[in-house]
Amino acid sequence: MKKYTDINDITNISQTINEAIQIKKTPFKYKGLGANKTLVMLFFNASLRTRLSTEKAAKNLGMDVMCLQINNSWNLEFEDGTIMNLTTSEHIKEAAKVIAQYADIIAVRAFPTLKNKDQDYAETIITSFTKYSEIPVVNLESATAHPLQALADAITINEFAKDKKPKVVLSWAPHPKALPQSVANSFVNMMQQLPVDFSITHPEGYELHSDITKNTAVNYNQEEALKDADFVYVKNWSAYGDYGKILTQDDNWMITQQKLNNAKFMHCLPVRRNVVVEDAVLDSENSIVIDQANNRTYAAQVVLKNILENL
Ligand code: CP
Repeated sequence: MKKYTDINDITNISQTINEAIQIKKTPFKYKGLGANKTLVMLFFNASLRTRLSTEKAAKNLGMDVMCLQINNSWNLEFEDGTIMNLTTSEHIKEAAKVIAQYADIIAVRAFPTLKNKDQDYAETIITSFTKYSEIPVVNLESATAHPLQALADAITINEFAKDKKPKVVLSWAPHPKALPQSVANSFVNMMQQLPVDFSITHPEGYELHSDITKNTAVNYNQEEALKDADFVYVKNWSAYGDYGKILTQDDNWMITQQKLNNAKFMHCLPVRRNVVVEDAVLDSENSIVIDQANNRTYAAQVVLKNILENL
Protein backbone atom coordinates (compact mmCIF):
# COMPACT_ATOMS: atom_id res chain seq x y z
CA MET A 1 0.00 0.00 0.00
CA LYS A 2 1.41 3.40 -0.99
CA LYS A 3 -1.16 5.54 0.86
CA TYR A 4 -4.58 5.24 2.51
CA THR A 5 -6.80 8.14 1.55
CA ASP A 6 -9.69 6.00 0.34
CA ILE A 7 -10.84 2.43 0.90
CA ASN A 8 -10.04 1.76 -2.76
CA ASP A 9 -6.36 1.88 -1.70
CA ILE A 10 -6.94 -1.59 -0.21
CA THR A 11 -6.35 -4.19 -2.92
CA ASN A 12 -7.93 -7.14 -1.07
CA ILE A 13 -10.43 -6.19 1.64
CA SER A 14 -11.14 -9.64 3.09
CA GLN A 15 -7.39 -10.35 3.30
CA THR A 16 -6.84 -6.99 5.04
CA ILE A 17 -9.65 -7.70 7.54
CA ASN A 18 -8.14 -11.11 8.32
CA GLU A 19 -4.69 -9.57 8.71
CA ALA A 20 -6.10 -6.96 11.14
CA ILE A 21 -7.72 -9.74 13.19
CA GLN A 22 -4.34 -11.54 13.36
CA ILE A 23 -2.60 -8.31 14.40
CA LYS A 24 -5.20 -7.88 17.16
CA LYS A 25 -4.08 -11.25 18.59
CA THR A 26 -0.37 -10.32 18.54
CA PRO A 27 -0.21 -6.51 18.36
CA PHE A 28 3.56 -6.24 19.06
CA LYS A 29 4.69 -8.85 16.52
CA TYR A 30 5.87 -6.17 14.05
CA LYS A 31 7.44 -3.84 16.64
CA GLY A 32 10.67 -3.68 14.61
CA LEU A 33 8.97 -2.59 11.38
CA GLY A 34 8.53 1.03 12.44
CA ALA A 35 11.93 1.52 14.10
CA ASN A 36 13.38 4.94 13.21
CA LYS A 37 10.22 5.83 11.29
CA THR A 38 7.99 8.76 12.23
CA LEU A 39 4.27 9.32 11.83
CA VAL A 40 3.23 12.98 11.84
CA MET A 41 -0.47 13.45 12.55
CA LEU A 42 -2.12 16.77 11.62
CA PHE A 43 -5.53 17.64 13.04
CA PHE A 44 -7.56 20.47 11.54
CA ASN A 45 -10.48 19.25 13.73
CA ALA A 46 -11.10 17.62 17.11
CA SER A 47 -10.73 13.89 17.69
CA LEU A 48 -10.71 11.38 20.52
CA ARG A 49 -10.69 7.90 18.93
CA THR A 50 -8.79 8.61 15.72
CA ARG A 51 -5.98 10.44 17.45
CA LEU A 52 -5.44 7.91 20.23
CA SER A 53 -6.01 4.70 18.23
CA THR A 54 -3.73 5.78 15.37
CA GLU A 55 -0.98 6.80 17.79
CA LYS A 56 -1.37 3.47 19.62
CA ALA A 57 -1.23 1.58 16.31
CA ALA A 58 1.94 3.41 15.24
CA LYS A 59 3.59 2.77 18.62
CA ASN A 60 2.63 -0.93 18.46
CA LEU A 61 4.68 -0.97 15.23
CA GLY A 62 7.61 0.79 16.92
CA MET A 63 7.12 4.15 15.20
CA ASP A 64 7.73 7.59 16.69
CA VAL A 65 4.65 9.80 16.58
CA MET A 66 4.33 13.60 16.43
CA CYS A 67 0.95 15.27 16.56
CA LEU A 68 0.10 18.85 15.56
CA GLN A 69 -3.25 20.53 16.16
CA ILE A 70 -3.03 22.62 13.02
CA ASN A 71 -5.13 25.44 14.54
CA ASN A 72 -2.14 26.07 16.83
CA SER A 73 0.06 26.47 13.77
CA TRP A 74 0.09 28.95 10.86
CA ASN A 75 -3.09 29.28 8.80
CA LEU A 76 -2.44 27.37 5.58
CA GLU A 77 -3.24 28.55 2.04
CA PHE A 78 -4.32 25.91 -0.48
CA GLU A 79 -5.13 28.01 -3.58
CA ASP A 80 -2.56 28.46 -6.30
CA GLY A 81 -1.52 32.00 -7.20
CA THR A 82 -3.26 33.68 -4.25
CA ILE A 83 -1.97 37.03 -3.04
CA MET A 84 -1.51 36.06 0.59
CA ASN A 85 -2.23 39.45 2.15
CA LEU A 86 -5.16 38.28 4.31
CA THR A 87 -5.37 35.55 7.01
CA THR A 88 -3.25 32.72 5.60
CA SER A 89 0.42 32.79 6.55
CA GLU A 90 1.95 29.71 4.90
CA HIS A 91 1.27 27.92 1.62
CA ILE A 92 0.66 24.16 1.55
CA LYS A 93 3.53 23.88 -1.01
CA GLU A 94 6.10 24.82 1.65
CA ALA A 95 4.26 23.36 4.66
CA ALA A 96 3.81 19.88 3.15
CA LYS A 97 7.43 19.69 1.97
CA VAL A 98 8.72 20.82 5.37
CA ILE A 99 6.55 18.31 7.27
CA ALA A 100 7.66 15.54 4.89
CA GLN A 101 11.27 16.13 6.00
CA TYR A 102 10.27 15.24 9.56
CA ALA A 103 7.96 12.34 8.69
CA ASP A 104 7.86 8.99 6.89
CA ILE A 105 4.05 8.99 6.87
CA ILE A 106 1.68 11.96 7.23
CA ALA A 107 -1.83 11.46 8.57
CA VAL A 108 -4.42 14.25 8.19
CA ARG A 109 -7.87 15.00 9.61
CA ALA A 110 -9.72 17.79 7.79
CA PHE A 111 -13.52 18.04 7.88
CA PRO A 112 -15.61 19.67 5.11
CA THR A 113 -16.89 23.25 5.11
CA LEU A 114 -20.43 21.92 4.37
CA LYS A 115 -20.88 25.22 2.50
CA ASN A 116 -19.19 24.57 -0.83
CA LYS A 117 -19.99 21.09 -2.20
CA ASP A 118 -17.57 21.25 -5.15
CA GLN A 119 -14.70 22.40 -2.95
CA ASP A 120 -15.41 19.75 -0.29
CA TYR A 121 -15.82 16.90 -2.80
CA ALA A 122 -12.57 17.96 -4.51
CA GLU A 123 -10.82 16.97 -1.24
CA THR A 124 -8.38 19.89 -1.59
CA ILE A 125 -6.63 19.45 1.76
CA ILE A 126 -5.88 15.73 1.64
CA THR A 127 -4.97 15.79 -2.08
CA SER A 128 -2.67 18.78 -1.55
CA PHE A 129 -0.78 16.96 1.21
CA THR A 130 -0.48 13.91 -1.07
CA LYS A 131 0.72 16.04 -4.00
CA TYR A 132 3.22 18.30 -2.25
CA SER A 133 4.58 16.06 0.52
CA GLU A 134 5.43 13.22 -1.91
CA ILE A 135 5.30 10.75 1.01
CA PRO A 136 2.45 8.37 2.02
CA VAL A 137 -0.66 10.09 3.39
CA VAL A 138 -3.30 8.48 5.64
CA ASN A 139 -6.81 9.90 5.82
CA LEU A 140 -7.94 10.43 9.43
CA GLU A 141 -11.36 11.64 8.14
CA SER A 142 -11.49 14.07 5.30
CA ALA A 143 -14.27 16.13 3.74
CA THR A 144 -15.96 13.13 2.15
CA ALA A 145 -14.46 9.94 3.58
CA HIS A 146 -13.47 8.18 6.81
CA PRO A 147 -11.72 5.06 5.51
CA LEU A 148 -10.07 4.00 8.80
CA GLN A 149 -13.49 4.03 10.46
CA ALA A 150 -14.97 1.95 7.63
CA LEU A 151 -12.17 -0.61 7.93
CA ALA A 152 -12.73 -0.86 11.71
CA ASP A 153 -16.46 -1.28 11.05
CA ALA A 154 -15.80 -4.10 8.57
CA ILE A 155 -13.51 -5.85 11.06
CA THR A 156 -16.23 -5.56 13.74
CA ILE A 157 -18.97 -6.96 11.48
CA ASN A 158 -16.66 -9.83 10.54
CA GLU A 159 -16.07 -10.60 14.24
CA PHE A 160 -19.76 -10.50 15.24
CA ALA A 161 -21.43 -11.98 12.14
CA LYS A 162 -23.29 -15.23 12.77
CA ASP A 163 -24.50 -15.65 9.17
CA LYS A 164 -22.37 -15.91 6.04
CA LYS A 165 -24.38 -13.03 4.54
CA PRO A 166 -25.68 -10.85 7.40
CA LYS A 167 -28.28 -8.15 6.83
CA VAL A 168 -26.69 -4.74 7.43
CA VAL A 169 -28.70 -1.51 7.41
CA LEU A 170 -27.29 2.02 7.50
CA SER A 171 -29.88 4.26 9.16
CA TRP A 172 -29.85 8.07 9.25
CA ALA A 173 -30.75 9.52 12.69
CA PRO A 174 -31.50 13.08 13.83
CA HIS A 175 -28.81 15.45 15.15
CA PRO A 176 -28.87 19.13 16.13
CA LYS A 177 -25.71 19.99 14.13
CA ALA A 178 -25.02 19.68 10.41
CA LEU A 179 -22.56 16.78 10.11
CA PRO A 180 -20.38 15.54 7.21
CA GLN A 181 -21.37 12.64 4.93
CA SER A 182 -17.88 11.13 5.30
CA VAL A 183 -18.65 8.24 7.69
CA ALA A 184 -21.76 7.24 5.75
CA ASN A 185 -19.93 7.50 2.39
CA SER A 186 -17.07 5.23 3.47
CA PHE A 187 -19.39 2.77 5.22
CA VAL A 188 -21.48 2.45 2.02
CA ASN A 189 -18.32 1.97 -0.07
CA MET A 190 -17.11 -0.71 2.31
CA MET A 191 -20.40 -2.61 2.57
CA GLN A 192 -20.66 -2.72 -1.23
CA GLN A 193 -17.44 -4.74 -1.25
CA LEU A 194 -18.37 -7.23 1.50
CA PRO A 195 -20.59 -10.35 1.38
CA VAL A 196 -23.53 -8.64 3.16
CA ASP A 197 -27.18 -7.89 2.36
CA PHE A 198 -26.90 -4.11 2.56
CA SER A 199 -29.45 -1.29 2.41
CA ILE A 200 -29.80 2.34 3.52
CA THR A 201 -32.72 4.07 5.19
CA HIS A 202 -33.14 7.85 5.58
CA PRO A 203 -35.80 10.53 5.22
CA GLU A 204 -36.40 11.84 1.69
CA GLY A 205 -33.87 14.57 0.82
CA TYR A 206 -30.95 12.88 2.60
CA GLU A 207 -29.80 10.88 -0.47
CA LEU A 208 -26.01 10.51 -0.53
CA HIS A 209 -24.01 11.21 -3.72
CA SER A 210 -25.20 8.74 -6.40
CA ASP A 211 -21.53 7.98 -7.22
CA ILE A 212 -21.36 6.53 -3.69
CA THR A 213 -24.71 4.74 -3.39
CA LYS A 214 -24.72 3.30 -6.95
CA ASN A 215 -27.26 0.43 -6.93
CA THR A 216 -27.58 0.11 -3.13
CA ALA A 217 -31.25 -0.17 -2.07
CA VAL A 218 -32.68 2.89 -0.28
CA ASN A 219 -35.86 2.61 1.78
CA TYR A 220 -37.55 5.78 3.15
CA ASN A 221 -39.46 3.63 5.68
CA GLN A 222 -37.10 3.00 8.59
CA GLU A 223 -39.27 0.39 10.34
CA GLU A 224 -39.56 -1.65 7.15
CA ALA A 225 -35.83 -1.33 6.41
CA LEU A 226 -34.76 -2.50 9.88
CA LYS A 227 -36.90 -5.65 9.82
CA ASP A 228 -34.75 -8.78 10.46
CA ALA A 229 -31.51 -6.76 10.41
CA ASP A 230 -28.42 -8.33 11.97
CA PHE A 231 -26.48 -5.05 12.18
CA VAL A 232 -27.92 -1.52 12.30
CA TYR A 233 -25.30 1.18 11.68
CA VAL A 234 -26.69 4.51 12.80
CA LYS A 235 -25.29 7.84 11.68
CA ASN A 236 -26.50 11.33 11.06
CA TRP A 237 -25.38 13.25 7.99
CA SER A 238 -26.44 16.59 6.54
CA ALA A 239 -28.07 16.72 3.10
CA TYR A 240 -25.90 16.17 0.04
CA GLY A 241 -28.40 17.57 -2.49
CA ASP A 242 -29.35 20.71 -0.52
CA TYR A 243 -25.74 20.70 0.53
CA GLY A 244 -24.92 20.84 4.24
CA LYS A 245 -28.50 21.59 5.29
CA ILE A 246 -30.50 20.05 8.16
CA LEU A 247 -33.83 19.19 6.50
CA THR A 248 -35.48 17.57 9.53
CA GLN A 249 -34.77 16.70 13.14
CA ASP A 250 -37.72 14.30 13.33
CA ASP A 251 -37.14 12.31 16.53
CA ASN A 252 -39.19 9.44 15.12
CA TRP A 253 -35.92 8.48 13.39
CA MET A 254 -34.07 8.01 16.72
CA ILE A 255 -33.07 4.37 17.27
CA THR A 256 -34.97 2.66 20.08
CA GLN A 257 -34.70 -0.80 21.60
CA GLN A 258 -38.03 -1.70 20.02
CA LYS A 259 -36.82 -0.78 16.51
CA LEU A 260 -33.46 -2.50 16.97
CA ASN A 261 -34.98 -5.77 18.18
CA ASN A 262 -32.13 -8.36 18.20
CA ALA A 263 -29.80 -6.52 15.82
CA LYS A 264 -26.35 -5.33 16.84
CA PHE A 265 -26.15 -1.54 17.21
CA MET A 266 -23.20 0.19 15.56
CA HIS A 267 -22.07 3.84 15.61
CA CYS A 268 -18.66 5.42 14.98
CA LEU A 269 -18.93 7.65 18.13
CA PRO A 270 -19.16 10.25 19.51
CA VAL A 271 -22.93 9.78 19.80
CA ARG A 272 -25.61 12.00 21.32
CA ARG A 273 -27.64 9.89 23.76
CA ASN A 274 -31.44 10.12 23.47
CA VAL A 275 -31.14 12.14 20.25
CA VAL A 276 -29.50 9.65 17.88
CA VAL A 277 -30.18 6.55 20.01
CA GLU A 278 -31.89 5.92 23.32
CA ASP A 279 -29.97 4.94 26.46
CA ALA A 280 -31.55 1.48 26.54
CA VAL A 281 -29.80 0.58 23.25
CA LEU A 282 -26.37 1.97 24.10
CA ASP A 283 -26.45 0.33 27.52
CA SER A 284 -27.55 -3.05 26.16
CA GLU A 285 -25.45 -6.05 25.16
CA ASN A 286 -26.47 -5.49 21.55
CA SER A 287 -24.42 -2.29 21.40
CA ILE A 288 -20.99 -3.01 19.87
CA VAL A 289 -19.78 0.60 19.70
CA ILE A 290 -16.93 0.01 22.17
CA ASP A 291 -15.74 -2.98 20.08
CA GLN A 292 -15.82 -0.76 16.98
CA ALA A 293 -13.70 1.86 18.74
CA ASN A 294 -11.24 -0.84 19.87
CA ASN A 295 -10.90 -2.04 16.28
CA ARG A 296 -9.84 1.45 15.20
CA THR A 297 -6.37 0.54 16.53
CA TYR A 298 -6.10 -2.62 14.41
CA ALA A 299 -7.53 -0.93 11.32
CA ALA A 300 -4.86 1.77 11.65
CA GLN A 301 -2.18 -0.81 12.43
CA VAL A 302 -2.83 -2.98 9.37
CA VAL A 303 -2.79 0.15 7.18
CA LEU A 304 0.42 1.54 8.70
CA LYS A 305 2.06 -1.91 8.51
CA ASN A 306 1.26 -2.20 4.81
CA ILE A 307 2.57 1.30 4.11
CA LEU A 308 5.76 0.70 6.11
CA GLU A 309 6.39 -2.50 4.14
CA ASN A 310 6.28 -0.45 0.94
CA LEU A 311 8.49 2.48 1.98
N1 CP B 1 -15.11 7.93 15.17
C1 CP B 1 -14.18 8.89 15.20
O1 CP B 1 -13.57 9.22 14.17
O2 CP B 1 -14.00 9.45 16.42
P1 CP B 1 -13.15 10.75 16.73
O3 CP B 1 -13.85 11.90 16.00
O4 CP B 1 -13.18 10.92 18.22
O5 CP B 1 -11.77 10.57 16.19
